[in-house]
Amino acid sequence: MQLCIALDLEEKSKNLALLATLKGLDIWVKVGLRSYIRDGVSFIKEIKTIDTNFKIFLDLKLYDIPNTMADAAFECAKIGIDMLTLHTSSGKVAMQSVMERLSACPKRPLVFGVSALTSFDSEGFEAIYNAPLEKHATFLATLGYQSGIDGAVCSVYESQAIKQATHPGFLTLTPAIRPFNEDKNDQKRTADLTQAKNALADFIVIGRPIYQSKDPLSVVKKILHTIEATHHMQGPTA
Ligand code: C5P
Repeated sequence: MQLCIALDLEEKSKNLALLATLKGLDIWVKVGLRSYIRDGVSFIKEIKTIDTNFKIFLDLKLYDIPNTMADAAFECAKIGIDMLTLHTSSGKVAMQSVMERLSACPKRPLVFGVSALTSFDSEGFEAIYNAPLEKHATFLATLGYQSGIDGAVCSVYESQAIKQATHPGFLTLTPAIRPFNEDKNDQKRTADLTQAKNALADFIVIGRPIYQSKDPLSVVKKILHTIEATHHMQGPTA
């Protein structure tokens, strides 16, 4: 299970200062809408100057017509990122177009499709999709699997059902992790590290519990240590 840290701070300098303290750690860094809209491609290049080993996850959650999505994904890949997101509800044609366009890239980024946002509870989800959350999230993730993407963004509570419905190697990336019982904020389907591990999540995303803490470095070290300890307790396949 790998840790992605969301860089959602209110100023570029604060995101960079946070990363400077985390230099040398085995982490992914997530650039989302706030940071990318404000600081753009040059921000991503600056991240690499802090530590070339930081893996970059560009979380723009693409959703548009197939041609526009394929073009946008190709432009993301040209930046040199390692992972990007799109919405699975954009449909198979759009996702297949993205994967076809990316196949020309020498170093293709991993592509993850959002199933159901972790800020939805069942009621909020059904009000929009008119379908039960877990069933529909699994259905959307399956569309993604059939379209050739690498994995699904989901909550810890759908991770195993998605793997069962698709393939054990279809990756899951789970936001809304609250490692040590922190405030849920706007998230609804939150879970801790043990739950994420038991649900076979391949990547976890954590933002506010890290960057809003007084000592982000020690929180990150504690998270990495807990992941490692859980790994040993449960064996390498867990
Ligand atoms: O601060 P917090 O840990 O809640 O941050 C979660 C991060 O994961 C945010 O950057 C959010 O945009 C992102 N995310 C999410 N739910 C998804 C996909 C991404 O919370 N389904």
